[in-house]
Amino acid sequence: MLLSNRVFLSLKSLRKVSPRRWHHTSLTNDLINNMDKKATWDRFYTENSRKGTFKNFEWFFGFHSVKEFILPQLQSMSHSPAPLHVLDIGCGTSALGPSIYTHSQCAVKVTCADISPVAVRLMQEHAESTPVQPCNPASTLVFREMDCTELEGHFEPRSLALIVDKGTTDALVRSKDGRVKAGQIVRQCLTVLRHPGSLLQFSDEDPDARLLWLEKESQGSEVTADVSVHEVGELRGVTYFCYQITPCTTQH
Ligand SMILES: C[S@@+](CC[C@H](N)C(=O)[O-])C[C@H]1O[C@@H](n2cnc3c(N)ncnc32)[C@H](O)[C@@H]1O
Repeated sequence: MLLSNRVFLSLKSLRKVSPRRWHHTSLTNDLINNMDKKATWDRFYTENSRKGTFKNFEWFFGFHSVKEFILPQLQSMSHSPAPLHVLDIGCGTSALGPSIYTHSQCAVKVTCADISPVAVRLMQEHAESTPVQPCNPASTLVFREMDCTELEGHFEPRSLALIVDKGTTDALVRSKDGRVKAGQIVRQCLTVLRHPGSLLQFSDEDPDARLLWLEKESQGSEVTADVSVHEVGELRGVTYFCYQITPCTTQH
């Protein structure tokens, strides 16, 4: 579905889509079965980029649907002049990270990370060809190719203020071999998040399933965590949630 200059998609909509509207190509099969594989996403972003001029591809929805979960939280943490480090894990070609950079009143250092070098290159090229001014002149924006199961190799422990994940964990937990990787990402996030700081997962998975899974996965971490859920709202017949995972200040 095309909305203004952004394309929106979710796994639920992929599965529901009528064969007459969507050819059941091998790429669609790949998306349904192999969303934890770098090759699937390289192919996905390569095929998307062939459609012409660059368009941000948004899983679920765009920045404006979730900005109320993000901007006030950053504002509440901005007590020092040093920029708050924000990481978008599995950024794809979403405008989420760039929009945080543009709209945050407090200084932020936004890193948009993805395992797909194709997505990272497209984002980098788009940012260079269409530069935007941040709300705070001290803010910065970078794009990095990165396997987010290995965050500790890229970031210092307790260095990040906010990690956002729109659809990445959903993609992993629903693919055959992805659950283990999704758990690794949660534990890595807990290690690199500072206090106070949070991981926000934007998801269409029901709280019954996700909360149990998060509780189990965060138990395997050296850092204990509080988990809460907020409803983002209903869009196109699907209810979306924001899962907030916050490292506890008292470590065991
Ligand atoms: C469902 S898409 C979501 C993309 C984007 N967050 C959005 O809202 O449109 C999942 C993304 O996660 C990325 N991904 C999958 N496994 C990853 C990993 N281990 N490390 C980093 N990114 C990964 C994929 O390349 C893909 O861009």
